[in-house]
Amino acid sequence: MSYETILIDKVASTAIVTINRPNKLNALNKETIGELQDVFNELQKDKKIKAIILTGSGEKAFVAGADISEFSDFNVKEGKKLAAKGQKKLFDFIENLSTPVIAAVNGFALGGGLELAMACHFRVASDNAKMGLPEVSLGVIPGYGGTQRLPQLVGKGRAMEMIMTAGMITAEQAHSYGLVNHVTSPEELLPLCHKIISKITNNSSVAISYAIKAVNAGFKNTVNGYEQEIEAFGACFGTDDFTEGTTAFLEKRKADFPGS
Ligand code: COA
Repeated sequence: MSYETILIDKVASTAIVTINRPNKLNALNKETIGELQDVFNELQKDKKIKAIILTGSGEKAFVAGADISEFSDFNVKEGKKLAAKGQKKLFDFIENLSTPVIAAVNGFALGGGLELAMACHFRVASDNAKMGLPEVSLGVIPGYGGTQRLPQLVGKGRAMEMIMTAGMITAEQAHSYGLVNHVTSPEELLPLCHKIISKITNNSSVAISYAIKAVNAGFKNTVNGYEQEIEAFGACFGTDDFTEGTTAFLEKRKADFPGS
């Protein structure tokens, strides 16, 4: 199958999935999310594929977030649906995929982009990567599992600070937080992922799929947190702060939040 916004390259038993909207810093619009769902469904069924690398095209971004232009006029119901559908069909699906998925973070991984990287089984970053959850600067909260997976990976305090400040951390900081496993030069990013995969594919793919299931099971008691996130994310869409935050971004100006 061919896709408008995704490139798939298969090298031996590894599939490299590249999100390909470089002019929009690979922001996740509806089409990209739908295509990613189809791609991961297709790869899950492909028994020849033993590992997947997910990355972004161009030198600047992995994924700079959900496409703000698509949801800035959503109401509470639409906001809630956006988070619920995205979590179930893509982010949770990737996390629970039986094939190992590595995020090769090659630049900005912000908002939905960092959430996508966090849904992967682990992350490797290039030294120019920048990561953050800037949603509260738009008057909304992370809605694709970010409020749950970031504390799991970096601890509650660091996650709270990252989410509240809406700031970005460098690849080195992300490494020291345990958010990414390795940092390397942009040129070495994919070769390093392939090197790790060559170790993974020496092992039983059946045992690995059971290990993924078992590790993920340890975090399932957070399921109510995800539901809480969907409710809170949806509620943001009924606030004046959300209207101001997204409008200000699209008008390329600083937001002036009314605080309601
Ligand atoms: N949604 C929609 N479009 C986005 C986007 C997003 N999340 N992130 C970047 N883009 C678009 C920009 O609007 C711009 O499009 P244009 O050239 O048609 O105007 C293009 O991608 C390039 O981005 P630009 O902002 O010009 O690049 P920059 O180098 O000046 O800044 C960022 C890079 C990542 C700091 C900046 O793009 C940004 O803050 N993006 C939004 C991040 C965010 O809040 N994500 C969370 C969303 S929930």
